[in-house]
Amino acid sequence: MSKFRFPFQRATASKPSVVAPSQAPGADFAPLPSNLTAERVLHVQHYTDRLFRFSITRPTSFRFRAGEFVMIGLRTDGRPLLRAYSIASPPWDDALEFYSIIAPNGPLTCRLKHIKVGDEVLMAHKPTGTLVLDALTPAKRLFLFSTGTGFAPFASLLREPETYVKFDKVIVTHTCREESELRYSEDTVNALPDDPLVGEAAPLRVTRYATCTQDTCRRAGRITDLVSSGAMFDDLAIAPLDRTHDRAMICGSLPFIHDMQLVLTNAGFVEGSNASPADFVVEKAFVG
Ligand SMILES: Cc1cc2nc3c(=O)[nH]c(=O)nc-3n(C[C@H](O)[C@H](O)[C@H](O)COP(=O)(O)OP(=O)(O)OC[C@H]3O[C@@H](n4cnc5c(N)ncnc54)[C@H](O)[C@@H]3O)c2cc1C
Ligand SMILES: NC(=O)c1ccc[n+]([C@@H]2O[C@H](COP(=O)([O-])OP(=O)(O)OC[C@H]3O[C@@H](n4cnc5c(N)ncnc54)[C@H](OP(=O)(O)O)[C@@H]3O)[C@@H](O)[C@H]2O)c1
Repeated sequence: MSKFRFPFQRATASKPSVVAPSQAPGADFAPLPSNLTAERVLHVQHYTDRLFRFSITRPTSFRFRAGEFVMIGLRTDGRPLLRAYSIASPPWDDALEFYSIIAPNGPLTCRLKHIKVGDEVLMAHKPTGTLVLDALTPAKRLFLFSTGTGFAPFASLLREPETYVKFDKVIVTHTCREESELRYSEDTVNALPDDPLVGEAAPLRVTRYATCTQDTCRRAGRITDLVSSGAMFDDLAIAPLDRTHDRAMICGSLPFIHDMQLVLTNAGFVEGSNASPADFVVEKAFVG
């Protein structure tokens, strides 16, 4: 379970009309709306000048499925400023991990980039999302296609034991502009052998395929091109996509999602949902 523990009292209570004020020195004491909880930062790690991960305390009542997202944010001028964030940690962990962009002039991330251990982060009580195992019908292989911070929900799914109950093999792809932006997915996959729940199954069954598009790195190119041309399957010496055996999830920017969806639908894949499970599901990692 999580190595990070923090002695602050949690600011959740049983269905209050407002959440208890933060106990942190210098915190804003304005009451929060009842749909929000105030949590504490446990850990922060910056990867590049525009990418970082952090973890926060988890309310005991907070439940989610691997792949879902939740609204998180900060108090600015006494009011909550919230954005959607995929939960990167698995549902069994004590802490909640997130992987964040720092958007130039982004209202939230220009502030969020300064958080440190002990600071307050606001979070909605209810997670949601379509990138869930329930939305896919059973098959042999699961392909997780991501660009940029779109890898975040897959960090959760890779550490979810149910993933390995439902699928024999998991192929996770991550494409970024520069090689340095691939480190979070590299660290996540490299840490799988030490995972307390999936440490035995995952290393034998997960393949990571990382590419970058504007830098010199081991593998270059957009994943849409590498799948369409068959280059990815040749590189990994695996069978090409086949709707009979394969399922997929897509997470990244809208143009990427659109193009990747096209690749899959051209191969005969049908989009699924919670209500109607099928061959693939998508989630935008940001609007743009
Ligand atoms: C379902 C969903 C899940 C999301 N999960 C994550 C996540 O796990 N991690 C994360 O960092 N963001 C995620 N986002 C984006 C996030 O909600 C915010 O947009 C982001 O935190 C920037 O907030 P901001 O207020 O600083 O800037 P905003 O005003 O929200 O965005 C400013 C501009 O920055 C660019 N941008 C925003 N987010 C990203 C991003 N993630 N990658 C590249 N460019 C971006 C866009 O061009 C956008 O127009 C998600 C969005 C959605 C809809
Ligand atoms: N000016 C800069 O130097 C700079 C640097 C970083 C980010 N940004 C801006 O920041 C925002 C987010 O950047 P980001 O790097 O996180 O995300 P991004 O622009 O979506 O790129 C992430 C990765 O996805 C690939 N990609 C983009 N569209 C695709 C598509 N339709 N099909 C397949 N692959 C696709 C990109 O390849 P390609 O490289 O081939 O597009 C890149 O490798 C963008 O608006 C971007 O313009 C600017």
